[in-house]
Amino acid sequence: MGLKPATNPDVEAVAIELSIDGKSVTAKDGVSLYDVISSTGKIIPAMCYHYTFDPFGSCGMCLVMQEGKKAPVRSCTAKATAGMIIRTEGDDLFQARKKAVEKHLSVHPLDCPVCDADGHCELQDMAFQHGVTNLANAKQKFIPEDTRSPVLDFNMNRCIACAECINVCKDVLMIDALQFMKKGGFNQVVPKGDQALSCEFCGDCLAVCPVGAITNKFSKYLYKPWQMKKTTTTCNYCGDGCQMHLETKDAEVVRVTSPLSWKNKWGDRADTAKGHGGLCVRGRFGFEYIDSPARLKQPLLRKGNQLVETPWLETMHQVADRFSDIQRKHGPDAIAGLITARCTNEELYLFQKLMRAGFRTNHLDSSARYGHLNFVHASRHALGIGRSPNDWEDLTKAKAIVLIGSNITETNPLTAVRIKEAIRVYSAQVVVIDSAVTNIAKLASHPVLINPGTEGLVIDGLVKATLELDLIDEESTKKHPQAYEALKAALAHVSLEQVATRTGMSIEALKDTATIFAEAPRSIILCAEGIVRQSNGYQNVLKLIDLAWITGKLGQPGCGVNTVTEEPNEQGAVDMGAAPEFLPGQASFNDQTARDRFAKAWDVTLPAAGSGANLVDILKGCKSGQIRALYVIGENPLATLPASMEVRAALDRLELLVVQDPFLTDTARMAHAVLPACTSAEKDGTFTNLEGRVLRVREAMDPIGESLPDWHIMTAMANALGCQWEYESSNDIQAEIMKLLPGYYNLGQPRKVVPTVDRYLSNGYAADVAVRYRVSAPSGVKNQRPFALLMGQILYHSGKMSTEAPGLIKIAPNAGRLRMNPQDMEQFAVGEGTKVRLTSDRGSMQVAVQPDQSVAPQTCFFPEHFNEPPVKDLMSVQVDPTTGVPSFKQTRVTIEKA
Ligand code: SF4
Ligand code: SF4
Ligand code: SF4
Ligand code: FES
Repeated sequence: MGLKPATNPDVEAVAIELSIDGKSVTAKDGVSLYDVISSTGKIIPAMCYHYTFDPFGSCGMCLVMQEGKKAPVRSCTAKATAGMIIRTEGDDLFQARKKAVEKHLSVHPLDCPVCDADGHCELQDMAFQHGVTNLANAKQKFIPEDTRSPVLDFNMNRCIACAECINVCKDVLMIDALQFMKKGGFNQVVPKGDQALSCEFCGDCLAVCPVGAITNKFSKYLYKPWQMKKTTTTCNYCGDGCQMHLETKDAEVVRVTSPLSWKNKWGDRADTAKGHGGLCVRGRFGFEYIDSPARLKQPLLRKGNQLVETPWLETMHQVADRFSDIQRKHGPDAIAGLITARCTNEELYLFQKLMRAGFRTNHLDSSARYGHLNFVHASRHALGIGRSPNDWEDLTKAKAIVLIGSNITETNPLTAVRIKEAIRVYSAQVVVIDSAVTNIAKLASHPVLINPGTEGLVIDGLVKATLELDLIDEESTKKHPQAYEALKAALAHVSLEQVATRTGMSIEALKDTATIFAEAPRSIILCAEGIVRQSNGYQNVLKLIDLAWITGKLGQPGCGVNTVTEEPNEQGAVDMGAAPEFLPGQASFNDQTARDRFAKAWDVTLPAAGSGANLVDILKGCKSGQIRALYVIGENPLATLPASMEVRAALDRLELLVVQDPFLTDTARMAHAVLPACTSAEKDGTFTNLEGRVLRVREAMDPIGESLPDWHIMTAMANALGCQWEYESSNDIQAEIMKLLPGYYNLGQPRKVVPTVDRYLSNGYAADVAVRYRVSAPSGVKNQRPFALLMGQILYHSGKMSTEAPGLIKIAPNAGRLRMNPQDMEQFAVGEGTKVRLTSDRGSMQVAVQPDQSVAPQTCFFPEHFNEPPVKDLMSVQVDPTTGVPSFKQTRVTIEKA
């Protein structure tokens, strides 16, 4: 940590002068001399150095001469001090560095021809640069390869003991899964305790390894680096929007790499606040779904009981004719559409245009309805902004972070790395409030375990504690005395004692959290699935905004109430208007000015103001027979929603179900027509990540089989319906969006959004606030069923798509296991794999169990990605009355030994 203070905004390091190769250089006192040298543009050899973590000083390559010292010094671990006189070049230094390379090569297997790093190896480069040709004394180590991990192989014969893998894992990721161990006379990297590697499998250690000592099991021996085409694109798993390089050979994705690599080891340490360039396990090892044999390669049309491969032309004619027929006979509102937020912005835009301008209906929705829209609506309602206000840099540099209802290392692992940097480098106080013992809670200064489903009550307690402790920002509240009085009145009935008893969060913890949040200069709230995907999500986000308002955190730099998005383009789905309430740009569908603008641009009459159905209403409409045709793009409601939503019955009644997807999903199996869509690796476009950055999606390979990009299929559909669309590429759609939403494409920079709370506080707030603190007892309050059953995401999967990636399935197979706290398992006298009977108000089923320390006592957890057994069917559904968001991730159950 000694070399990091210059990156801490709270520590103003003294500016110093030193001389490098005869030139005077200004630097900050105490930073790595290597950083100072590279900031002048001079790159000196370095193998164990990487700017994203602290220098280790093992490779002996970064040698420089310091006046007054006889021997060369390692510049990476040397601290820059005033008056230093440094020389970086000269034959003496060249020879010293050459000796270091020779030393490394003297214990190297020289198996370059079969090494994955051949041609992409820093040791090779260094040997070449320094003319190392005498390898006669090379000694073999004969260390057996460690192949115990499901994704990484460790070949310690090739290791140069640079510790980059250990350091990235310990410093940046704070996982600390690797260590050096003296074995067989050599210092070897082994998983902690020399067991099989058990970690998050992000592969960042592989990325930084300068040689071929750590290899990727999925691509080992499959390539030489120069044979591959490298396409920089955006990950299609979560809303973090990580940049990745898809490396392909012909029609095959061979591996995924990222900007974090020994090739990019030079950078400004302060820049890591914007991201360190790594990936998580899904991004790095979850690519095999792209060229999976299960991909649909041909359109399918239902003939009798079977889906039969049919040429595109015939399929599209039939589908369009049947849509037209239904529209003619029953009107446009007999048709509806659903789309996944894994589609690009351009496709989401086209989807809503197709529904509104092609089919002339406003019955349309996207997967942002599963939770993100709770946040968007609350934030728009109170602050006028429909997305998170803070970016990764704000999060990294925050002094206080209150993370509520978010298992962020599982859902958004790279946003979690920002919080880790906030803890490690910027000394942030982090309060983690959750009903599970999450990994981020283990690193937080203030981990708080609460009873499941009591997040809303906890927020009541936090607001109340803020009032009681007078942590109020008077400037904010004095401007709106009536609103402030209304808030106090609304909370009059709330007692901290009661909150503490019901939530399990002590009064002291409530007060501490309120104090930490109110007193820090830069305070961020981050709420996620435990808020937005649960009942009262909309109201709970508004309560968090109340908390930020009275503590003066709204609109302040580096402060705000934020959420994360689980799918890559949930924000884009909302921004592009893929929801019945929004036109593109989040303009209200009922706003006449906006309606006129889009009607003119599209040269149509829009469906009537006030019309439109969201996901839940669409399914109801299907079931009642009002909706007769449904166009489903990338969504899989049958596998996602609980049985009580009666999705099968709803889909069964349809006269026409058209599913467009890369895979034959459960929903697709019921379809009358299945249109093979390609994945984001086979198309161009953009995603909008959780920070509001618009990020490029680039075509890395030709579409598999006859699959086509969703925008292409929708264009063909529109034209078959009689529209005259002329889009020939995603760029053409982008050009249209650019005209309608100027400034939306922001070249990778998040558009700044400024919350404005005044309008809300002086208008309607008093009536609103009285309601939200009156919310009835949370669903988590214990009833006769003693266990809380939770469903959610796990790190190794994302929705159902990741289950098509064999690599991820290998790491986290569908074991069909319910996770329980080991203490609870002991009480039931059940061991791993033993079946228990799980009973909720909705039904009962048997399921095998497995121990999991992160599951709190009296709760149990089932990964939402799997349906065997269909645990989701035990859930009840509550639909938010304001936002229409269905919540179904939590219920109460009894557990008995089966
Ligand atoms: S894969 Fe990631 S978590 Fe696992 S050891 Fe490597 S860096 Fe650490
Ligand atoms: S495995 Fe690679 S990154 Fe780790 S110490 Fe060895 S050479 Fe360095
Ligand atoms: S954090 Fe999200 S966007 Fe980044 S690599 Fe992982 S799944 Fe992809
Ligand atoms: S880079 Fe400095 S010792 Fe390796």
